[in-house]
Amino acid sequence: METDGFARLFHNFENVLEPKECRKIGTVPSYVKGTMLRNGPGMFEIGKDKYKHWFDGLGFMQRYHFEDGKMFYSARYLESEAYDLNVAAQRIVTSSFGTATFPDPCKTIFSKYFSTFMHDTEKHDNANVAFTPVGDGLYACTETPYMYRIDLDTLKSLEPADFSKYVALHSCTAHQLYDENGDVYNIGSRFGPDSAHVFTVTRNPKNLPSESDHSWEHTLKIGEIKCTDPMYPTYMHSFGMSENYLVMFESPVRVNIQKFILRNFINATYRDCLVWQEDKEVDVFILNKKTGEQVPLTLKMNPFFTFHHANTFEKDGCLVVDYCRIENAGSFETLNIDNMRNGEFQNATTFLPYLTRVVIPLSIPTTAKPGDNLLSSVPWAKGYSAVLQEDGSIKLTEQQTCSTSMEFPRYHWEKINMKEYKYVFGSTVFGKVEDNKAGVIKADVSTGKHLVWDRENPHQICGEPIFVPDPAGKEEDDGILIVPIMSISEKQPPFVLILDAKTLKETARFEIPEERIPLGFHAFYQSR
Ligand SMILES: [Fe+2]
Repeated sequence: METDGFARLFHNFENVLEPKECRKIGTVPSYVKGTMLRNGPGMFEIGKDKYKHWFDGLGFMQRYHFEDGKMFYSARYLESEAYDLNVAAQRIVTSSFGTATFPDPCKTIFSKYFSTFMHDTEKHDNANVAFTPVGDGLYACTETPYMYRIDLDTLKSLEPADFSKYVALHSCTAHQLYDENGDVYNIGSRFGPDSAHVFTVTRNPKNLPSESDHSWEHTLKIGEIKCTDPMYPTYMHSFGMSENYLVMFESPVRVNIQKFILRNFINATYRDCLVWQEDKEVDVFILNKKTGEQVPLTLKMNPFFTFHHANTFEKDGCLVVDYCRIENAGSFETLNIDNMRNGEFQNATTFLPYLTRVVIPLSIPTTAKPGDNLLSSVPWAKGYSAVLQEDGSIKLTEQQTCSTSMEFPRYHWEKINMKEYKYVFGSTVFGKVEDNKAGVIKADVSTGKHLVWDRENPHQICGEPIFVPDPAGKEEDDGILIVPIMSISEKQPPFVLILDAKTLKETARFEIPEERIPLGFHAFYQSR
């Protein structure tokens, strides 16, 4: 294995079943009592086969458990059907986002044809992206309807769940959003001649008669919105939610449905079916959560893509939507494992995400005329515009709210979810340290100012920062951030940084007694 360089982070990791105490330097507030789980790819090679895209690696969960001022680290592979089948075969036998399965000599071209056209038996259950709480259960999830409930102490994969048992869809986001009642919202896609965005809710099973307190049985469709081009529906990674609305961007990243249907027959991956249609504007769709009706506005924006939304809220008849904007995502070839291993992904400047806001009026005044900016009378929306066009559509203009690139936006969910707020916390996964030392960022979206925690050396990569609120705190930024710091040098071991969320000053760090931890995706913190 390479001793230095990004490639260190893309070789197989090993289970750490027995929690290891991590050496602490500094002090941790006494309210930090709980467990943070991180999800992400951890197995990149199986036998002689190698995954081709970062998103494909088999799910590997890390547990950071905080107790009595100490931190314990453990890690375990998600025991999905994909994991079992691939590991047992010692080669890649299930398909994934960007890696084709290798031809099975036992499978004739005709059996392949029929399995493609008659039914797709693969579950695509490598739930390696994020976690969603449902009732008293925590589920590892990905962009398909297949999930696993996880034991927070042992990281053991418990029973699977299948979201599509309740609502017909082919894909969904891994970033399900939940409210203070514990109701979980999502947007999926149904592909075909009538391709549509399918909006769902899963009611908290603890509030209803249920099979169990972690059941998905109260999942139902709230409504759906037709894709603007049914043969090229968009790929979407997350969405926004306010008190009354769900909002999504139909970006120029599109799925070629004809190719998707034939993908197994022509040995194409899902990623091969994606295309950046640069002539496409972004259509913004808003659905009323309570009525299931689409807000009847045609909303257009210049092309962009977002992986991650931050908060969304309603104010004075407008919807305010924050997200990390990427100028041009292509078809995600930037994140091919070869480009990750050689660090090339850091050179893709149009792939750098910037925190951005759009303000959307939720109605058109009867007196409005083409050319009018519908936000001109909104005093706090200076610099934003929503211009009524001759055809009745509205052209929206967004604004960047933080000058330093950041990804993985998080905020003080307990206090300000779906409310007007100030602070977004994020990290610079894609930034080159030569261009910008910033590692962790605290953006004030009310002023456009930001604070940073600078990386101490060019070998550090910061993961998603998780905000843990101070229960005695009064302000939005009273709390700490937990930030995993990966290292691309064997001389710099990985650690977990604890930052005061008000100042971004370090209060403590815990050295992880492992040579490497993976460059994962998303985390979930459960106070205990
Ligand atoms: Fe994500």
